Amino acid sequence: MGAREPSSPWLGGPEAPIRARQAHTMARVTIELPQCRYDVVIEPGALENVGETVRSRAPHDRCALLADRTVSDLHGRSVEHSLRRAGYEPVTSALELGEANKTFDTVQRLYDVLLDGRLERRSPVIALGGGVTGDTAGFVAATYLRGVPLVQCPTTLLAMVDSSVGGKTGVNVPQGKNLIGAFYQPVAVVIDPLVLATLPPRALRCGLAECVKHGVIRDESLFEFIRARLPQILAADPETMVELVRRNIEIKAAVVMQDERETGVRAHLNFGHTFAHAIEATTGYGKIEHGEAVSLGMLAATRTAVELDLCDKALLQRLEALLQAADMPVRVELPPDDELTAAMQLDKKVSGGRTRFVLPDRMGNVVVRDDVPPGCVRAGWREIRR
Ligand SMILES: NC(=O)c1ccc[n+]([C@@H]2O[C@H](COP(=O)([O-])OP(=O)(O)OC[C@H]3O[C@@H](n4cnc5c(N)ncnc54)[C@H](O)[C@@H]3O)[C@@H](O)[C@H]2O)c1
Ligand SMILES: [Zn+2]
Repeated sequence: MGAREPSSPWLGGPEAPIRARQAHTMARVTIELPQCRYDVVIEPGALENVGETVRSRAPHDRCALLADRTVSDLHGRSVEHSLRRAGYEPVTSALELGEANKTFDTVQRLYDVLLDGRLERRSPVIALGGGVTGDTAGFVAATYLRGVPLVQCPTTLLAMVDSSVGGKTGVNVPQGKNLIGAFYQPVAVVIDPLVLATLPPRALRCGLAECVKHGVIRDESLFEFIRARLPQILAADPETMVELVRRNIEIKAAVVMQDERETGVRAHLNFGHTFAHAIEATTGYGKIEHGEAVSLGMLAATRTAVELDLCDKALLQRLEALLQAADMPVRVELPPDDELTAAMQLDKKVSGGRTRFVLPDRMGNVVVRDDVPPGCVRAGWREIRR
């Protein structure tokens, strides 16, 4: 036999591993709902070609790029170039879009941008940024001219695995977070894991908390994947992130497809959140990040499940070990129990005066209970109180 052509990618020469890797660093998840269907594309470098995607889903001569200012400074230029290459004349708006600006005031300013840019019914809106941007720009797209095509380009891990899928959009009002909004599905979601390289580590961990949540509620192998690949995940390794994001979106999408308007299994996504919302409300919004509260909330909920004999203590230990390895908080200073209980009862997920808890009965499965004795909830708080 003659020697193999060393440089041929097909015969296993030196280039082969690279080609093989490239072939794997792309994923697509199709979301199918009764009234619409759209793709989530996950690929390193995807934002450089976002214009083509927008054109194929929402062909029109005008479009709007609504971006978080930080993200726009870091990554906006390549998105804008791509839109121009695809034949668009984008109107752009880079707003300070922190949680404090997730308001009607911002919505009005974004309407002005679209109105001044004379965007029409078929003109797409591209939302580039984290969950705040996606929710706010998504609400604008849902309501401007009664709805224009929306392309979500999430740039935080939380937005990639959580807020960009499911169609919830909205803003905060003085009475509470996310109280005003609309269900509005995008025509496409474009995810470029390379942007995670610039995301602050604390924000990356917050997104990871929601990934751990998905593992606990639905998929033990995802939980194990996170554990095994933690160093790569915390370093935002692109290939690892494609797989992490894909697996999480598949879970969130499956839940949403089953229950688009949150009447049944979508409640499972609230695992850890009943406790988390009370932590956020009593410690003051902004002091503790949502993902950090979720980390603590998942531990409290799991302790509650142990007290109820729903699951054994090993599950709690496994969860705590992973959160600790990821440098997520597992203990926190808390106000007295009655304040926490009051905060829990104010949460909008309470129905008919009973607090509903999502509790694991084994790794990868949860049940919903609204008959949890106060003593078991107190044990949950005790678990995470510093
Ligand atoms: N719609 C839903 O279903 C849903 C689900 C979960 C959360 N949310 C909402 O999502 C919001 C939280 O989203 P978030 O955590 O993405 O916060 P965020 O949008 O405020 O982003 C966090 C910070 O990261 C910065 N940032 C974003 N991407 C970056 C990048 N690639 N590099 C550097 N910096 C970057 C932003 O400028 C911001 O300062 C909340 O308002 C929450 O209510 C919505
Ligand atoms: Zn959450």
